[in-house]
Amino acid sequence: MKLIDNHGRVLRDLRVSITPRCNYHCVYCHPLGMEMSDPPGTVTTGDVRHFLRAAANLGMDAVRFTGGEPLVRRELPEMIAAAAATPGVRDVAVTTNGTLFRRRHRELLDAGLRRVNFSLDAVDPGVFRRLTRGGEVAQVWDAIELALELELHPVKLNAVVIGGVNDGEVVRLAQLSVDRPLHVRFIEYMHLNNAPADEYRRQFVSGAETRRRIEERFGALAEVPTDPSSPARVWKVPGGLGTVGFINSVSEPFCSNCTRLRLTSDKKIRPCLLTDLEFDVAPAFEADDPVRALQEALLFVAGKKPRQGSTLPTMRERVMLGIGG
Ligand code: GTP
Ligand code: 5AD
Repeated sequence: MKLIDNHGRVLRDLRVSITPRCNYHCVYCHPLGMEMSDPPGTVTTGDVRHFLRAAANLGMDAVRFTGGEPLVRRELPEMIAAAAATPGVRDVAVTTNGTLFRRRHRELLDAGLRRVNFSLDAVDPGVFRRLTRGGEVAQVWDAIELALELELHPVKLNAVVIGGVNDGEVVRLAQLSVDRPLHVRFIEYMHLNNAPADEYRRQFVSGAETRRRIEERFGALAEVPTDPSSPARVWKVPGGLGTVGFINSVSEPFCSNCTRLRLTSDKKIRPCLLTDLEFDVAPAFEADDPVRALQEALLFVAGKKPRQGSTLPTMRERVMLGIGG
């Protein structure tokens, strides 16, 4: 069984946001304010189990847990174990800011986690602190080193490049991929935080510009072939241990290759990151046969997946924090 949308795309990748909470307040993601607990109606481990079973029955085979920050959720290991035990699921991963990784890695690995992407937007402690509004880069770096020690390859790092904030860090970030087997991905800043439009436009830096700065320092990059459904185009500094990737969602949209659906932590299926469209599927979780009801919901939403999303600055109903990247 395959889940195919109306534009011929086979949907295989599921992104499950398990909490709207985060212990960072990155400028590109969301306004200030951190709830202490998840709001009523947030997905439970049982919900996740049912949802993944429904999705896997339809051929979706890769699951990524996001947030907010997924590691603030106590039940994350149970959810990972549920994903790993779902027949048909071949890849279970997490995207995290890394702050709680050292503290929780053992239970996550025991649950079956084998792959982690870390957000790391700067190497310089001051730049990092400003961008995350208070984060300690040493703590994230410690988590990344631990992931390498644990051989959770490939260890990918995500850096959203923002002009006047961290664009001065791109060479230092790229250097990490030279010295270590790390896969550093430079992400174009998307207008998903309801920032003032003119400020957003001023701060936007294209992937081409980021690449130019990297090549200015390291010379021509060599292309590394990649799966076309992955958002990153990947290159290598010759002789480097890792790679540098560019996720150019704004300047080079890759909607025609998009294979993703999202479940939000408040039980909505979102068919496109860059469109406000969401479908409330909370009732399906309460059905007598939730797996079957969720399968029907997934088929319905797949039929509504837009051909393409919009990256134009506009007020969004939900900011990145609630979507999970
Ligand atoms: P793997 O390649 O499997 O490791 O995962 P990933 O790169 O899809 O996951 P990650 O959470 O690290 O996402 C990296 C970035 O890709 C996100 O932060 C987004 O900026 C971008 N991205 C992910 N999904 C989409 C999408 O559906 N549309 C667009 N335009 N960008 C996306
Ligand atoms: N634009 C681009 N990427 C973003 N992320 C969060 N907000 C934005 C944004 N406005 C990315 C972060 C994180 C991932 C889950 O989403 O890099 O690693």
